[in-house]
Amino acid sequence: MVRKISDIRQLKPEPEIKIGRNDECWCGSGKKYKKCHCDFDARLDEYRMKGMLVPPRRILKNPAQIQGIRESAKINIEILDYIGEHIGAGVTTQEIDDRVREITKKWGATAAPLNYEGFPKSVCTSVNDVVCHGIPSAEQVLKEGDIINVDASTIYNGYFSDSSRMYCIGEVSADKKRLVEITKQSLEVGLKYVQPWRKIGDMGAAIHEFAMENGYTVVREIGGHGVGLEFHEDPWVSYVCPKDTGMLLVPGMMFTIEPMINMGGEEIYISDEDGWTVYTQDGMPSAQWEIQVLVTEDGYEIISY
Ligand code: MF3
Ligand code: CO
Repeated sequence: MVRKISDIRQLKPEPEIKIGRNDECWCGSGKKYKKCHCDFDARLDEYRMKGMLVPPRRILKNPAQIQGIRESAKINIEILDYIGEHIGAGVTTQEIDDRVREITKKWGATAAPLNYEGFPKSVCTSVNDVVCHGIPSAEQVLKEGDIINVDASTIYNGYFSDSSRMYCIGEVSADKKRLVEITKQSLEVGLKYVQPWRKIGDMGAAIHEFAMENGYTVVREIGGHGVGLEFHEDPWVSYVCPKDTGMLLVPGMMFTIEPMINMGGEEIYISDEDGWTVYTQDGMPSAQWEIQVLVTEDGYEIISY
């Protein structure tokens, strides 16, 4: 998602409403507070007191919500598998949109991009030098040597899932193949740092370092986001940030890891014509993979990939 002023503001650290020890926990578990999030909240308060950015309650998912989001993600994964079976030279990006719309409906789900802030289609299709938010079109025919990101976001029973993959059309150049591969590997590199009680910036910094080691640059202005109960939640997720910065990770947080990695420079621009399509300034290729992860008690769970 494109970074907005509201993401840049430093969240004012504010304590959440206090609850009695014998009252029901705020998380919806039905348990007494003292048997549920009481110690957890005390720990968060300590971090908050030190001036750390701690997650607000509204972005922490309880087990029932996590299960609902997993079910949404199952459909999200099916959609991208299905697209993989039907993509190739001669296919238009509009046909990809048609297939996403049909299969999403077949599963009883809704495509989140359609009409989202005016986005006109059900999926984003970003080819070669398009970084992200490419709009499917009947005029755009995929050809041998293209690389394309298909980004699907799914709503099922009110729960959101979001992931994207790269597809290589026929034989692509060694350069492009490597870009796609390194971008995929960067997710694994980042995942090692998704651990509770660690800051999210460690993950972003690791991805940035890995991309640079491989001779690439990382897009700054667009990043990942919390997801699950809404399409885009806090925190904003950067892949170019310094270590030991950003929001504290705690169990129940869920967000996307979706770095956009460029073969050339990091500079980008948004199309004046459609207001959506993001291009690399130098016209060099860009790749992106996106997964949705849950922070668990001892690490992470991949929810959608
Ligand atoms: N999946 C994209 C994201 O994570 C969706 C962008 S909004 C859209 O931000 F309208 F372009 F779909
Ligand atoms: Co996303």
